[in-house]
Amino acid sequence: MSQRTISSMVFRQMQSNFSSFSSSMNNVSKNYRPAITHIFEARYYSSNLGSKGNKEDEPAQAVKFDSNFENVDGQNGKAVVSSYWGVPPSRATKEDGSPWRWNCFRPWETYKADTSIDVTKHHKATTFMDKFAYWTVQSLKFPTYLFFQRRHMCHAMLLETVAAVPGMVGGMLLHLKSIRRFEHSGGWIKALLEEAENERMHLMTFLELSQPKWYQRALVFAVQGVFANAYFVSYVVSPKLAHRIVGYLEEEAVNSYTEFLIDLEKGLVENRPAPAIAIDYWQLPSESTLKDVVTVIRADEAHHRDLNHFASDIQCEGHELKEYPAPLGYH
Ligand SMILES: [Fe+2]
Ligand SMILES: [Fe+2]
Repeated sequence: MSQRTISSMVFRQMQSNFSSFSSSMNNVSKNYRPAITHIFEARYYSSNLGSKGNKEDEPAQAVKFDSNFENVDGQNGKAVVSSYWGVPPSRATKEDGSPWRWNCFRPWETYKADTSIDVTKHHKATTFMDKFAYWTVQSLKFPTYLFFQRRHMCHAMLLETVAAVPGMVGGMLLHLKSIRRFEHSGGWIKALLEEAENERMHLMTFLELSQPKWYQRALVFAVQGVFANAYFVSYVVSPKLAHRIVGYLEEEAVNSYTEFLIDLEKGLVENRPAPAIAIDYWQLPSESTLKDVVTVIRADEAHHRDLNHFASDIQCEGHELKEYPAPLGYH
């Protein structure tokens, strides 16, 4: 028996049950009946519309959720999907009432970056572990600078594909630890996943300005394979070292965006209008430029730097992350 046949039988049974249920509800206060009726009707209606190609049912038709539903991440496509699962379309609007066009983030996830953050701060490496982390990052930095030189857009795009990995790996491992040990996380799971998402949004922003070439995609494929696994192992072995390495990586990210800004000011890189995704994500004025976008991204990197050095410091001082509330709410 097919899934649809089972489904139709189930809902015919539900309809029958509903009739007897409705009559038995005559003695129930009238105030409750409309709400209950809506629940059953909505589910039955939804299921019938989803039963494509079943001749015993009503003529099949896909449900066009909303003719103005154009938030397909910047593309003006129409979302036409079956409502079989009864999941309502996610609708959002901007402050001016115009439709929200992004699916990858919603209005309540947007924020104003704290550009007053100190972008020159550096964690002085004093212990052996710190020096190991620092020189690991420095040894990775020179080949990348040689490879990219002053091709800032390309550098930024590929940098973000790496930067979005540690938060997700660390967040996942803390999540597993929390459920394995039956203990709270202190908000660190969310903080690290927020960082990963923020880095991915940096990447999505640069993608609006430059498209990766085939060899860059191949490079990212290889680098991700090595880096994601290496970071996973290092986080399992020593989370404080892993966070320290990311802290230094973020310091280098801040430095590379500072160089990007210097070249923008010198006119060596064209200061193009900011992409729409950046204007919405960082709540920037509509006339913002690439320079404004790089400025807010650099502020984000400085926040990641502080978060990761802080996480490492907590553990270096013999504490667990969960003992200190995570710096949530940056967004
Ligand atoms: Fe980033
Ligand atoms: Fe970052």
